[in-house]
Amino acid sequence: MSYNLLKGKKGIIFGALNEKSIAWQVAERAYEEGAEFILTNAPVAMRYGEINELAKKCNTEVVAADASSLKDIENLFDVAMAKYGKIDFVLHSIGMSLNVRKGLKYDEVNYDYYHKTLDISAISFHRVLQVAKQKNAINDWGSIIALTYVAAQRTLFRYNDMGDAKAMLESIARSFGYIYGRENNIRVNTISQSPTLTTAGSGVKGIENLLDFTDRMSPLGNATALECADYCVTMFSDLTRKVTMQNLFHDGGFSSMGMSEKAMMMYNKSIEASEQE
Ligand SMILES: NC(=O)c1ccc[n+]([C@@H]2O[C@H](COP(=O)([O-])OP(=O)(O)OC[C@H]3O[C@@H](n4cnc5c(N)ncnc54)[C@H](O)[C@@H]3O)[C@@H](O)[C@H]2O)c1
Repeated sequence: MSYNLLKGKKGIIFGALNEKSIAWQVAERAYEEGAEFILTNAPVAMRYGEINELAKKCNTEVVAADASSLKDIENLFDVAMAKYGKIDFVLHSIGMSLNVRKGLKYDEVNYDYYHKTLDISAISFHRVLQVAKQKNAINDWGSIIALTYVAAQRTLFRYNDMGDAKAMLESIARSFGYIYGRENNIRVNTISQSPTLTTAGSGVKGIENLLDFTDRMSPLGNATALECADYCVTMFSDLTRKVTMQNLFHDGGFSSMGMSEKAMMMYNKSIEASEQE
């Protein structure tokens, strides 16, 4: 259902790779709510071509930008400003770890990969914010969001150096959020989403088990990509104008839980099974 929450608003959406991507769902929901936006992804992601289908659906264009390239981000904002003038919202939905991809453990990481993880998954957010501010690209009360994960606060098996990247990402939202709020009335937040079966999510080995565990632990169950898109839309809207510098959990309650009845039942079952072996 559409509420016209984003009527007249313009933006940039990073990170739609395919239909499973959280950014893809955000783009579709933002479009339904009346927003206009440019889609962007790394040049290498363009090869898959699916983002062009999304662009067609949302009556827009795709501008390639590697989030680790300052030149690309500057060009992206120049294109957006030439098209729309100032914009109102940005979604940063980018994550990548070669250590995770290559199965290197946290105590055996490759440091070149580690640098890349931090650069692509966290520092890129600073790059986006700094370029936007220097170009005076965002309207007053604009809203900038990055997607994050609870591994920033808690250690999760196999999440590896992405936990460090997410901690840094959330810190950048606070540090930049202060300056951007003080000087330009612009909001900067992170949304901490439940584990979700996307291309990046599937990179974490054992994601199905993790999904089952977090679903049992969360009183409201895991949040889907579409539900995350709904939350992003409200955060881009004028209904949330005084929310800034926050890490907002969108996880069905998981982050406040210690042990749930459903998880305890499963744990008891597996203990019984192992005792019978
Ligand atoms: N899937 C989950 O379980 C989950 C949970 C919490 C948070 N998140 C976060 O949500 C965001 C989106 O991930 P997703 O789950 O939709 O997966 P996804 O794989 O669909 O999206 C990740 C995106 O990052 C892009 N990307 C990678 N390197 C890039 C670069 N150098 N420049 C520009 N773009 C680049 C990819 O092309 C892709 O579009 C990420 O920040 C991820 O960490 C995901």
